[in-house]
Amino acid sequence: MSRNKLEKFAEVEQFSNVTQIQDIRENPDLNPRGEWKTRIFENENPITLELACGKGEYALELARRNPDRNYIGIDIKGDRLWKGAKIALEEGIENVHFLRIYIDHLEEFFAENEVRDIWITFPDPYPKYSDRNKRLTAPKFLQKYHKIMQPRGPIRLKTDNWRLFKFTRRVVKWLECPIEDITEDVHGERSDDSLLTIQTFYEKRHRDKGKQIRYIKFRLPEDFEYDDS
Ligand SMILES: C[S@@+](CC[C@H](N)C(=O)[O-])C[C@H]1O[C@@H](n2cnc3c(N)ncnc32)[C@H](O)[C@@H]1O
Repeated sequence: MSRNKLEKFAEVEQFSNVTQIQDIRENPDLNPRGEWKTRIFENENPITLELACGKGEYALELARRNPDRNYIGIDIKGDRLWKGAKIALEEGIENVHFLRIYIDHLEEFFAENEVRDIWITFPDPYPKYSDRNKRLTAPKFLQKYHKIMQPRGPIRLKTDNWRLFKFTRRVVKWLECPIEDITEDVHGERSDDSLLTIQTFYEKRHRDKGKQIRYIKFRLPEDFEYDDS
């Protein structure tokens, strides 16, 4: 591991705006499950998650724009979270927090109805068919989101990956999730939509290679049910 990464890991441990899975494993009282608003944000504002947030560009920018909302960027890579957390601390942005966990364990860190809405930004596409259940829009993950989200909260996905996009559309249709918005070319068709033109690190990389960026916004039906057993 590079020295730079080790330094970031050490630094991120000290950041007041990052909660790491190992802290909670060592001291379960540190788990804000069910109490994010009161314990972490000290307000009653709604919570939005950015999943697979990397450096947290969406969480940060949305927090800057919407001081009356709370944002949590989630990723397992501490050196990436370091970047977003450092910027938030430097700019004094108090309505954003970062959580270093595997998204697979969301229910361990959030209670029923605790989350208003979810952004999924450029998640790993897992192109192999045998890895399809690792995709963050696989039914197994939608079931987890359903358990922690308020009814009718939207889920938004941004991706460069055509296969992941097609897969998501198929899952959403199969599970009868209403689609609220969809475009296969964010920067061509929605260049005036200030919500969609926030760009992440990976998004910039994909665009530099000439890739088209796709977006879908959908809701889980209130009677959503999926059994992966
Ligand atoms: C391609 S990067 C995208 C990062 C950022 N959203 C961006 O657009 O620049 C995918 C991110 O997902 C994270 N990730 C993938 N699977 C995960 C999981 N199950 N739990 C937590 N993080 C995950 C990786 O660590 C990585 O930072």
